[in-house]
Amino acid sequence: MNKNFGLLIDGKWLKNKKTINVYNPFDGKKISAVSIADSKQTINSIKSAHLAFQSWSKTSAKYRSEILKKLFKLTKESKDILSEIITLESGKPLEESKVEVEYGASFIEWAAEQALRSEGKLFESPENDKKMFYIKQPIGVVVAITPWNFPLAMVTRKVSAAIAAGCSVILKPSELTPLTALKFGELAIKAGLPKGVFNIINGNPKLIGEILSTNSMVKKITFTGSTEVGKLLMKDSSSTVKNISLELGGNAPFAIFSDANLDKAIEGFIAAKFRNAGQTCISANRLFVEKKIFNKFVKKLVLRFKKLKVGNGFENNDVGPLISEKAIKKIKNHVDDALSKGGKILIGGKKSKVGKLFFEPTIISNVNTKMKIFSKENFGPIIPIIKFESDEELIRLANQTEYGLAAYFYTKKTSRIWKVIENLDYGMLGINSGKISTYLNPFGGFKESGLGREGSLQCLEPFLETKFVSWSYND
Ligand code: SIN
Repeated sequence: MNKNFGLLIDGKWLKNKKTINVYNPFDGKKISAVSIADSKQTINSIKSAHLAFQSWSKTSAKYRSEILKKLFKLTKESKDILSEIITLESGKPLEESKVEVEYGASFIEWAAEQALRSEGKLFESPENDKKMFYIKQPIGVVVAITPWNFPLAMVTRKVSAAIAAGCSVILKPSELTPLTALKFGELAIKAGLPKGVFNIINGNPKLIGEILSTNSMVKKITFTGSTEVGKLLMKDSSSTVKNISLELGGNAPFAIFSDANLDKAIEGFIAAKFRNAGQTCISANRLFVEKKIFNKFVKKLVLRFKKLKVGNGFENNDVGPLISEKAIKKIKNHVDDALSKGGKILIGGKKSKVGKLFFEPTIISNVNTKMKIFSKENFGPIIPIIKFESDEELIRLANQTEYGLAAYFYTKKTSRIWKVIENLDYGMLGINSGKISTYLNPFGGFKESGLGREGSLQCLEPFLETKFVSWSYND
């Protein structure tokens, strides 16, 4: 890796004395130290992005699309190095990191294509001497704040769409996983992005976040992370009435009806639960199983859990470490809380011997709605399993949460499928599938899971303003 990585401001890599250490969650060893931005540099990144916006916003969509296509190609060509960095700093299994690079690259290609399709609309005017229409224009300087669980894909989903729309960007990656974003920054410069169009700053999230979310030159904040931080950003950015997109926490129900193909349902569940060791906001967080098949299903599931290999992401394992001590403590707290309220461990239940940040894949039964494992996002390899007896009961229990991001269910009955689709209060549904992540998905949620959508046919929309024109030609 380039040794000069630090901050990318105005097309230059800057290094500071003040740094943050980046650790490998597998063994806690330091991987690197990354420069952090002070307040002056944070403001400089805004000024640089503001200046760059004046010319970038005037470039043709075709030109922006060509640069993004180059960036897509470079990202694909760098798959090995990017995957290694992702596993090194996040701990996820290398195969998953490779899938993440493909997923991340797909957003760049998609944004390059959608750049060419941005459009306004001409209306049939109610007045004969007038033309009425609206045009779309890039919103301005965008701040993208991204999480540690997908160090590349969450960056590309936001940044490539903003750049395609004609915006300039300041990226603040997670301080736990900044190396992938910095490597991506190197590729973006190589692809030909002019200076200031893409800036990357690292550092204290509170200090940087406050400057970025209150500065009037910043017109848009797009954030993926916890609901708690999302609410703070919303509050801070209200002083300048910024446009804000939030992709926040989830508490995904995963329901299995008695007519489902149980083997397929189990594999779908494993895919939805154990991606990144359960550390995704669309991870299955509560497993609902119809009473008629409950005992049979539990036996099969416990056997499947026994086969999961927990360990180093570089050694062909299925489940890697959690990201931090804080994450382990939270999981332990959820398990203890469930046990104190009558929960029963079917498998797992404690920290794994593999390493400090590992937790055993865990199933808890005898669950009630007062338990934290029912009401809170656990973000780890644990799952409560809950019986239900009817479609109505399933819908009521599944919706009993302040979150509304993703939900999954397995059944063959078409009459039930439509009813459940309509009644689940969630932004994204997987039916007979545990995988919903694709560039086609308008990613986002209902309720406290966020505001707005990213990716999909609408991917440029969060980065565009609409300008209506009523034009009389009786001048
Ligand atoms: C997330 O966990 O925030 C995103 C997961 C995805 O895009 O699949």
